[in-house]
Amino acid sequence: MLATRPVVESKHELLERLAEARLRTDELFILVKPDSLYERPIPERHRIIFYLGHLEAFDWNLLRTRILDAQAFDPDFDRLFAFGIDPVGGGLPSDQPHDWPDGEDVRRYVGRIRQTLDAELAGSIHSDSKPSGELPVRLLLNVAIEHRLMHAETLAYMLHQLPIDRKLPRGGQPELVFPALEPAMIQILAGSTTLGLTRGDGNVFGWDNEYEAHLVHVPAFAIDRYKVTNRQYLQFIEAGGYDDQALWDDADWNWKSQRQLSHPAFWMQTDGRWSYRTMFSVVPLPLDWPVYVSYAEAAAYARWTGNDLPTEAQWHRAAYSSPDGFERPFPWGNESPGMEHGNFDFHRWDPTPVNAFEKSQSALGVADLLGNGWEWTSTKFEPFPGFTPSPFYPGYSADFFDGKHYVMKGGSARTAACMLRRSFRNWFQPHYQYVYAGFRCVSN
Ligand code: AVJ
Ligand code: FE
Repeated sequence: MLATRPVVESKHELLERLAEARLRTDELFILVKPDSLYERPIPERHRIIFYLGHLEAFDWNLLRTRILDAQAFDPDFDRLFAFGIDPVGGGLPSDQPHDWPDGEDVRRYVGRIRQTLDAELAGSIHSDSKPSGELPVRLLLNVAIEHRLMHAETLAYMLHQLPIDRKLPRGGQPELVFPALEPAMIQILAGSTTLGLTRGDGNVFGWDNEYEAHLVHVPAFAIDRYKVTNRQYLQFIEAGGYDDQALWDDADWNWKSQRQLSHPAFWMQTDGRWSYRTMFSVVPLPLDWPVYVSYAEAAAYARWTGNDLPTEAQWHRAAYSSPDGFERPFPWGNESPGMEHGNFDFHRWDPTPVNAFEKSQSALGVADLLGNGWEWTSTKFEPFPGFTPSPFYPGYSADFFDGKHYVMKGGSARTAACMLRRSFRNWFQPHYQYVYAGFRCVSN
């Protein structure tokens, strides 16, 4: 259904997408065994119970006064569940399970908000025929939908870290056939690339950090055809990469040493053998899957190979430029993202081999760019020229323009297709290990 989505969506279509997005987040909470709702699988984040309330509180706080004119019925919950956390500088939250409300109360809060929103929004579809009133409603519904879908992904990271026996199991992944893997670098000639979205191109939804569109000149470079695999990363580990201070920035070295890290968070070592924690099982380390690591670990690997991480502009050029000088909306061309183009849009919980999708290739021959794991760039998350904070959510991006977050591009198995647009930017701190994110290297 996403493949045939019209450029201008009616509110009706948007309400269908909101309902689908709710299914995506509901299915995650169903995975959590009832006695585990107050767990905190990731030390830097809230307990799971927060997210149960957050998704509805967000929609309610966003839409209640702006399009509904409805009465608040639980202002304490509206505040408690309004915003997540992303502590910088190593501080960790210390709240206790009993600081949070009862799960049944939160579920009632969620139910009441859904009922109210659905009744009012459906009614306003039929009564609202003024075109000038359309855009803000569409915009706000897109904000609610994409916010929820982003949490469908970040919650998956979180539940990935929840011990397997605290989750209800799910079925396996679709089988794939793939050729033998031959890593290579691809030469990219000097040229330009377009970052961002044009404001006033009002039919396309974008978050505030995607504006304004601008052209960037990129000198010649070479880039890995595939994301770095677990096999390649294992060589770095076996060569002593985690014990060689010269490969790490000071802050990264201190962080790694304090936490006593010696391998990626998704890996486990038992009796000298490497295994890997997928969402629902433990398997022998899948050597052809992309490695998922923090920025700091990616940067150390890149330095070990004598290479760098790509800048955001280099990544764009490798993904979207073509020899004829035109830029493509997707690496593979104009077609909307489909199952043959990569591992995204919730079809799988875990990665595939990096060469599983022949049709993923960009015009310049770079593969597996969208899906199968976000890719760290060396670009700090900063506003594009012409940025203005979203009036509906001024802190969405601006709170993170602190020089302590890096841009990620691409997407993962748990990224919704709507966020595979060229201008979408994701970001996290360099020491955050739990994202479905890896990297590829460039040679400058
Ligand atoms: C864009 C994924 C970095 O999860 O911190 C969700 C998205 N912002 N609720 C995050 C977000 C507020 C954000 N990322
Ligand atoms: Fe949020």
